[in-house]
Amino acid sequence: MNRKFEIVTSPHRGYCFGVMRAMRLIEQGLESFGGTIYTLGDVIHNPLEVERLRTLGVHPVETLDEVPKGGTLVLRAHGVRPDLIDDARRRGIGILDATCPFVQLSQRHVKQFADESIPVIIIGDREHPEVRGIAGHAGENALVVKDAREAALVKPLDRAGVVIQTTFSRSEAEEIIAALGERVRDLRVRDTICQATETRRDAMLALAREVDCLLVVGGRNSSNTVRLYQGCVDSGIPAYLIESADDIDPDWFSAVRRIGLSTGTSTPAWIIDAVLARLDEISRESA
Ligand code: F3S
Repeated sequence: MNRKFEIVTSPHRGYCFGVMRAMRLIEQGLESFGGTIYTLGDVIHNPLEVERLRTLGVHPVETLDEVPKGGTLVLRAHGVRPDLIDDARRRGIGILDATCPFVQLSQRHVKQFADESIPVIIIGDREHPEVRGIAGHAGENALVVKDAREAALVKPLDRAGVVIQTTFSRSEAEEIIAALGERVRDLRVRDTICQATETRRDAMLALAREVDCLLVVGGRNSSNTVRLYQGCVDSGIPAYLIESADDIDPDWFSAVRRIGLSTGTSTPAWIIDAVLARLDEISRESA
């Protein structure tokens, strides 16, 4: 079967600025703190990279009880609640803060709203660690809404301050804001959607117009990866979400001339390289 094809990669692939910064801090932490550091939950939403980091001494934990006194805890790019940082310090745990500066901005906005006694509404997924962390900065009284239906059920308010999960879809956020506008007289919206995810999505949609199918490489637990993949599916082009080169089925490419490749913001270069090498191999095998 002739499967020879061309591979076109998105110019926006691999780590975003925030994840790159977090990984650099982790490397520095490993050098400075005796080879073992801890993260609350997985440091990034990529199971293969989490496993690689574990072998280097980066240990995910579920609670602070698992971090020894004098140990070092890395705050992930998603950030955490401020009371957790206070608790860690009380326990004699060192903090290495890898919270993405864009997430820190959301945290500052909600703190300011809360300090001015303005009710806080966060647009996002209430189970996402970033949203949970931001809610903590609002003093635990933040309301989280994930869609226009929930927004329409918000009790009428005189005023409210709004931030948006950094990786949220802009079009969905706009629908929610319109619905909130019907419920809140003075709605103060801070646009905290991260440009990196929007740029990546736009580049992928442009790529989708030039190719016969698209591969999105990233963790299935990564919300921005899943959103990218969903964007491909919505555009009507055949698309596959893969975590590694092992997930590739050569039969996907039997009638394909050009394959596009994009990735989530927490996909490391070594996984992308392995995927490209595997695609090249499949193309050459069948030439
Ligand atoms: Fe930060 Fe945006 Fe990445 S919020 S972690 S730069 S996707």
